Parts: sequence; C-alpha cells; structure tokens
Amino acid sequence: MNALTEIKDRFSQSLSGLVDDPSQLLALIRPAGNPEHGDYQANCAMPLGKKLGKPPREVAGELVEAIKLDDFCQSVEIAGPGFINLKLDNDWIKQRLNAALTDERLGVAKVADPRTYVIDYSSPNVAKPMHVGHIRSTVIGDALTKVLRFVGHQAISDNHLGDWGTQFGMIIYGYKNFVNEEAYQSSPVNELGRLYKYVRQLMDYHAAAKNLPLKLEELETAQALLNKLESEPEPTDKSEKKKAKKAIKRGADKVKDLTETIYGHLNEETGNLVGGLKQNIAKVESSPQAKSDAEAHPEIGTAVQAETAKLHEGDPENKMLWEEFLPSCLADIQRIYDRLDIQFDHVLGESFYHDELANVVNDLEAKGFTQVSDAAVCIFLENYETPMIVQKCDGAYLYSTTDLATIKYRMEQWSADACLYVVDFRQSEHFAKLFEVASKWGYNESELTHVSFGTVLGDDGKPFKTRSGDTVNLERLLDEAEARALMVAREQNAELPSERHQEISSIVGIGALKYADLSQNRSSDYKFSYEKMLATKGNTATYLQYAYARVQGIVRKTEADMEAIRANPVEFVFDQPIERQLGVKLIQFGEALDEVLVDYKPNILCNYLHELAQLFAQFFSQCSVKDAGSEALKISRLQMCDLTARTIKTGLEVLGIKVLDKM
Ligand code: ARG
Repeated sequence: MNALTEIKDRFSQSLSGLVDDPSQLLALIRPAGNPEHGDYQANCAMPLGKKLGKPPREVAGELVEAIKLDDFCQSVEIAGPGFINLKLDNDWIKQRLNAALTDERLGVAKVADPRTYVIDYSSPNVAKPMHVGHIRSTVIGDALTKVLRFVGHQAISDNHLGDWGTQFGMIIYGYKNFVNEEAYQSSPVNELGRLYKYVRQLMDYHAAAKNLPLKLEELETAQALLNKLESEPEPTDKSEKKKAKKAIKRGADKVKDLTETIYGHLNEETGNLVGGLKQNIAKVESSPQAKSDAEAHPEIGTAVQAETAKLHEGDPENKMLWEEFLPSCLADIQRIYDRLDIQFDHVLGESFYHDELANVVNDLEAKGFTQVSDAAVCIFLENYETPMIVQKCDGAYLYSTTDLATIKYRMEQWSADACLYVVDFRQSEHFAKLFEVASKWGYNESELTHVSFGTVLGDDGKPFKTRSGDTVNLERLLDEAEARALMVAREQNAELPSERHQEISSIVGIGALKYADLSQNRSSDYKFSYEKMLATKGNTATYLQYAYARVQGIVRKTEADMEAIRANPVEFVFDQPIERQLGVKLIQFGEALDEVLVDYKPNILCNYLHELAQLFAQFFSQCSVKDAGSEALKISRLQMCDLTARTIKTGLEVLGIKVLDKM
C-alpha cells in the first residue's frame, strides 16, 4: 500500500459525495513540504469551502470527521485557514520499511490494472548523423518505458525510424554524382555521411542564392520603415506614445530577424558567425570543387526530390541502393544505442508502412473524411487553419499518412491502450491533428499522447551548436562527456588502476548526460553544461552515484552480512528525528514512480532521488552506524543504509543509469 494513494482513496469517497469530479481536489493532497507540518497535506478544503459557500475550516473539520484514517495516521490536524495535516503512524512506517527491506521490488506493488503502452521514441531520420536533439527523445522515452514496466504495465518500445524520407533521395543523388568509390569501400558510413552533408551544402547554396535578393529587399524595406518610425516626433499622448514605441520595437525586431537570416548571428562566446544565407553561399564559394559542382548541378533540389519519388515508386536502381545503404545507416546509430545502453522491442521505420499508405488514403476517402484541395487529398479540421494533407498533388504520401498507418498497425497488432510519442515540441501541431484524425477514423478508445520536450540550449541561450555553428554530433557529445568523467574519476580516486578509471568514466559520463536531461522538466528548454552535469554536488547522476557507492562503503566497513539481516530483519528504530524522516522518504518511492506517470515526467523521480540522497547525507552525519550504542539500533541503521542504497540503485536503473559499488 502506498500512503498517498490510500489517503487519496479515502478522501475520494467523501469528496465524491460533494462534487461531481473530485480529481482536481485530490490533486491538492501531497507530501508535506515541511516535516513540521506532518507527512502529508490536504489543501482541498479551501477551494471546496469556496464552492460550497462555507468557511474552509468548517469544511476541513467535516472532512476530518468523516474520513477514517486512524489505522495508519497518528494525527490529523487542521491548521491555518483549513489545511489538513496528516502525520503517519510510526509503527505503520516501520512496517512499510520492513516490507520494503525484504522485497526485491522495495515494497512497490504492481498496478492492479496493467495497460499496454506503445512508446515511440528516439526515431531519428537515418542517413544523417544523430545530433544533440536526439538525446532527449531517446533518454526520456527509455526512462518512461522502464518506469512503466517496473510498475507492472506492458510497455512496447518502437523506434519509428525516418528511413524513407528525402535524406535518402539526397544520398542516392550524392552517390550517383559525387561518390568517392575508394572511401565508400573502406567506410560506407563515413562516405554516406559526407555525401549527405555535401548534397545538403549544395542544396542550401542554391536555395540561399535564390532567396538572398528577396531577403535583401525585405531588409531594405524593413530598415526604411524603421528609420521612418524612429524619425517621427514622439507623440505626447500617453497611449499613442506607447503604441509608437511598440511599433518601433516590432520594426527593430523584424530588421534583426532578417539580418540574422541573411548574415547569420554572432556567437557571443566565440565571435563566430552562425547560419545565414550569406554563410551558405560563402561555404560553397570557398571551395573550388564545391563551386564547380554547384554550378554543374543547378537543379539539385528538384533532382533530390525526384530521386526520393523514384525510390517510393519502386524504381529498381534506387530501391537497390536504399537496401545497400540502410544497413550502414543502422550500424551507425546502433553504435550510439550501444553506448547509451538503449534497446528497442521493435524498429519499424517509415519504410515498413509504405505499402499500406494507399489503403489508408482510400479508407479515409471512403469514409468521407477527405476533401480534394489544390489537387491534394486533405482532411480539414475545425480548429486548424491548415488541413492535414494525406496525399500531395503529385501522388506522394506524407509523414502524416505514415503516422496514420502506424496507429492502425499498433492498434491491430498490439491492442495498445496508449501510445506515447516522445517527440520535440515543434511537432505539437502535427500530433494534435494526427490524434484528431485518428479519433475520427475510429481509434478513439486509446490514449494518444504527445510527450513533447523543449530544446537543448548552449551557453548563449540559443540552440546548442558547435563553435563553427553546426549541430552538435551526438557521438562527439558522448566522447566528450566520457572524457570529462575520466578526469573527474582520476581526480576523485587517484589510487585506482587505470582500467577502473575507464569503467567509471563510461558509467559516470553517460549517466551524467542522461540525468542532465531527465532531471529537467521535459517541457522546458535547458542549458547544456558538462561542468554542471558532472558536478559531484547538486541534483546530478554523479552525486547520486557517489552517494550509492558511499552507502555501500559504510555497509562494507561494518562487515555486516546484509543478506542475513534481510532474511532476519529487526524492527526499525527511530532514535533521531532524521531517521524517521529518511524512513518516510524511503517508503515514498512508489509514490514518486506513480507521479512520474501522471504527466510522463521523469524529472519527478530525479527530484525524489536527490532529496533521498540529501536526507541520507544528514542521517549519515548525525547517526553513527558503528557506534550506535545498541545492537538493535546498529542493525536498524544498517537496514536504513541498505534500503537507501537499493532505492537509489533501482531508481537510477529505471532512469536507464547504472551505478558502481566502488568509485
Ligand atoms: N523521424 C521524426 C523526426 O526526426 C520523428 C518521428 C517521431 N515519431 C512519429 N511517429 N512521428 O522528426
């Protein structure tokens, strides 16, 4: 039994007699922030009083009167305007602790009603190197999968690879025109990567050359307008003055945006120019070979589209090249998954659904959901300006069409109760539309959720880029995290042999990287920092890994036989207040896992583990194990150490992070 669920259940019975939907009131029952107020706090009497037109204290009194809690709460008190403070019974806490100690699952019961979840995550577009943006989906999706499984759900992980898109048109075109046969023979992955980049460069060059005059003209107009606005006399009327200021601000922003589009923006740290049409042109013009290739391939953009279309239509040559390229592309990303220790149940990329797409469109047409607009097959939705296009005027299918076929497959094959899409927030509109269409189409019984996340930022608060302005390659990022972890490991444990340093650095480096991401509220952007993520203090994996190793060290030093103690435990003793506090935290592990799944937020588990480790540090400084005074207290403290260590270990494991017994 988990205390929070139990408290909520009991409140729910009383509240449902008073309001139609008690869920919002139940959400106001939480672990107390301040231990002096008790262990849990129910703040539902205030909104309820307002609703019922009664003083909240009176409402609180009635609730406390009606709800039976004394079988596991020592006291239930009303404070201030109507807060209900609950304090757990010490004996009950001790029982829970003993139950956790002797249970492999640390006392966390499996859910009574397991559901089948499909988690769609990582899903990179292959044929181009994975970059920093892919880390978020990969680690958040993996952690959610593991948490779901731990609490007893069936979680099916599916890597929906982009293995059928324009990037293949690009490498096919690149291969046909620019391949270096020798390089391709010796390392297909590297050569394909080079071809992808090269074709991208040439395409960007032509697009920039075409766009530049238009953008320059726009900039000139915007600048002239801004000059005019600025030279106008300031209005005396207050509201007019405000309006004029706003217009100037808007004009200045426009000029700034256009300037960046044309010239790129200055990276404040390095002073380098990043991005920009002029940059795209300069990159090609600085290389005679690229310049001559660009001139020889003026229609490269259209040609790449044509290669992609040919692939989709089943052209034998392109299909053969695709089949030849795909394994190298997969091997390339597999290396990263291996280093990150990520496995998928299924890797069903976009190509897997290709043969189904015509059926999807036919079915949608037959059901009367589609309309033809500008020769494209569209589905118009009430709340969106633009429709969802399922087939373009040239007959090509789109990302959305594939996603519809994918939903159908997942429902039919796996009877999914829920599909979670762990994808960048920029695809929010795509998923909102997709879910609406899927529901219309008949898939309205299952939960479809876009688990969206923000951007990884650099020090300058802009999307994280390399010094030269390129996206950050994920593999290089892993290298750097491990290299820095190696330095930390050497510093902290100079006495260890160097193979151990290597082992530690991989576990610490990768753990730090994953945790830095998972510990952020996924909806926000976050600033990437190697120093912060590898800090031995603060809310980091490194801190938790050291805490774990330290606890193990304490147990080792006492030479206690933990197996034997677990087989024959003593009742926990609360000699010092911190022991009770740590005990309460330990039995809340299951609650933290439940909370993660409310909104699919792994950072809640990170916060829990960090708080746990902090309480343990206090316990450790106040409560001696060796000199506990009595044998019973010593064993109780050892049990506390053991349970803390196992909770940290299991908590990190479900986040996809490993620990070491010694560091
Ligand atoms: N390949 C896509 C991209 O890189 C992400 C796919 C996400 N999953 C999905 N079912 N749409 O943008």
